[in-house]
Amino acid sequence: MKILVTGGLGFIGSHTVVELQQEGYEVVIIDNLSNSSIEVLDGITAITKIKPHFEQIDLKDKNNVRQFFSNHSDIAGVVHFAASKAVGESVNEPLMYYENNIGTLVYVLQEISKLNFQNFIFSSSCTVYGQADELPITENAPVKPAESPYGNTKQIGEEIIKDTCKVNSDLNSIALRYFNPIGAHPSVKIGELPIGVPQNLVPYITQTGIGMRDQLSVFGGDYPTSDGTAIRDYIHVVDLARAHVVALQRLIDKKNDSNYEVFNLGTGKGSSVLEVIESFNRISGQNLKYSIVDKREGDITAAYAETSKANNILGWKTELTLDDAMDSAWKWEQKIRNS
Ligand code: UFG
Repeated sequence: MKILVTGGLGFIGSHTVVELQQEGYEVVIIDNLSNSSIEVLDGITAITKIKPHFEQIDLKDKNNVRQFFSNHSDIAGVVHFAASKAVGESVNEPLMYYENNIGTLVYVLQEISKLNFQNFIFSSSCTVYGQADELPITENAPVKPAESPYGNTKQIGEEIIKDTCKVNSDLNSIALRYFNPIGAHPSVKIGELPIGVPQNLVPYITQTGIGMRDQLSVFGGDYPTSDGTAIRDYIHVVDLARAHVVALQRLIDKKNDSNYEVFNLGTGKGSSVLEVIESFNRISGQNLKYSIVDKREGDITAAYAETSKANNILGWKTELTLDDAMDSAWKWEQKIRNS
């Protein structure tokens, strides 16, 4: 069964390709390599021993998208990762974000509507909840005004899919709202490859550990949490990737309750920034240098998922811990810097 993974050479995309291949799916990857590297294809192949079909296509080029889908009309499902994801960059380049994340989504949905099998998985984010009023966050929590153009593209993306599902009953879609994906594949053959100075906590920690950065700035030490630092739900990227496979299978088996469903993907457990540092110290044997600085603009105090909907309906739950994720992230950092 042929599955298209857009953005399949990116961080979450590549891990999902591995899980799909290991479940026996034939994977076709589209990626424009704007924030990924062609070597990721070798990493995937080294793990699964199957080289996925790859086409370097920019989804902003509508004609290429059309051509691609007419060459692959036998696609049974699409997992759509391709998007820009840097919150800060999106504030400075809003139109680029709307074009990259919204324009391309529209083109892909237009082409999917011509296929026999219209199964579609969308990469969404817990950013749609903003600072939720109640924790843990259920899928019924209200969507709050977006803090950034990036966050807005996820909200608008969900709305576009929902509206399309209303008029196209053949389209079966699941939006997956990720909490904070971290870690790398345990084989250490694929992982996160941030460009420039990392904006996210875990790659910043591992780069500090390896000596590329002097110290970590912990953004905010007076949040109303037990240790004063902000709380997030850090989910191992392999657990996250597995969820895409079960969500897709639900659509293929037509087990979905409606043609637009939403699931949170998190562990259900919140960890503070200091707890993440402690995990890194445990795993690496280091004593990470950090200092507490001002809060980062737009950051929320705490977010962690209520996972029972995904657990019960998808039959999926996380299996890996924060320490597992830090261990793989640390091994990956050491590998990429020493090779
Ligand atoms: N943090 C630091 N120092 C750093 C980097 C981060 O203290 O150098 C802190 C942040 O303040 C936050 C936590 O570590 O409390 C996690 O920060 P990340 O940047 O790793 O993740 P965010 O929760 O800010 O962002 C993530 C995704 C976004 C998504 C957002 C939704 O990266 O794509 O969740 O809330 F929009």
